[in-house]
Amino acid sequence: MNHLDIWVRKGLPGRKISFPHVLGCDICGTLVEDAGNFKKGETVVVYPAIESDTPRTAYSIIGGFGNYRGGYAEFVRVPISNIVKKPKWISDTEACALNVSYLTAWNMLEKSGCNKGDTILIWGANSGVGSAAILLAKGLGLKVISVASSSKKVTQAKKIGTDLVINRTRSDVATEVLKHTKNEGVSAVIDHVGAKTWPISIEVLDVGGKMVTCGTTSGAEAKVNIRTLYSKEAKIIGAYLGSKNQLISLHKFMKLKKIRPIIDSVFDLQETKLAHKKMESGEMFGKIVLKI
Ligand SMILES: NC(=O)c1ccc[n+]([C@@H]2O[C@H](COP(=O)([O-])OP(=O)(O)OC[C@H]3O[C@@H](n4cnc5c(N)ncnc54)[C@H](OP(=O)(O)O)[C@@H]3O)[C@@H](O)[C@H]2O)c1
Repeated sequence: MNHLDIWVRKGLPGRKISFPHVLGCDICGTLVEDAGNFKKGETVVVYPAIESDTPRTAYSIIGGFGNYRGGYAEFVRVPISNIVKKPKWISDTEACALNVSYLTAWNMLEKSGCNKGDTILIWGANSGVGSAAILLAKGLGLKVISVASSSKKVTQAKKIGTDLVINRTRSDVATEVLKHTKNEGVSAVIDHVGAKTWPISIEVLDVGGKMVTCGTTSGAEAKVNIRTLYSKEAKIIGAYLGSKNQLISLHKFMKLKKIRPIIDSVFDLQETKLAHKKMESGEMFGKIVLKI
């Protein structure tokens, strides 16, 4: 599951989908017929991006707002070019979780331009994208500050390697980041939360810092202090999924660094409503997976 499933179920202004629509963009399954170099019976994952049906947009997403039906189903039909070998060293449950959140986090980290030893701020430590970004950033040797909204999530975020976790319900995030970085700020911010966090993300950037953004969980219209932005010579960079090559390099990197994705829970497809409720309540840490 991804937060995108909730956006598609609820609908977004101006985004049309044709019914019947099937949700689900993180897919792992077994081929029921030969496909290119892949043989019937092989377990594969699906690279979720397809050619965009929206002008000037990088991709459409299988199971998202585009025309391809997704993975909340026994069978799914996708273009052969989207089929990727499933890494053998992880389970099917783990493998499906990488296609969207981990790929996006990987792409965002690449776009952040951070090098070993740099400090990065990652919002939403418990989220699919946030928890993925923490694991991958630590694998790359970055210093990670993350944000969570309860003491339970703070403990979990520390357990997966975050150097400093800020409980946003108890402390002011900007104050804590600046205190921790001796007022220098961070090299980059991974922001998937949107309107509510953008002003803080820009505020805590060091000179030349980059805010990489991929989501609008708290709203799509943000207020930006332009003076703050240019005084820092900062950059705002959008990230949309990642390329198929990045998915393959992500598989290799995770194997090399022995990083396994964090799975919060696995629900049967019949329990999808419960799974959606859990994601909407924010009471997960890591990925929620549906099993068929
Ligand atoms: N562009 C892309 O290719 C792409 C790919 C994947 C995801 N996304 C987008 O990225 C976002 C995250 O996706 P996901 O599946 O990882 O979501 P998710 O697992 O449902 O997580 C949502 C996160 O948002 C945080 N949050 C909500 N309101 C907040 C606020 N006011 N301040 C700080 N944090 C807040 C929550 O943390 P708290 O516990 O602190 O509330 C939680 O960690 C979604 O908007 C999704 O559509 C985009």
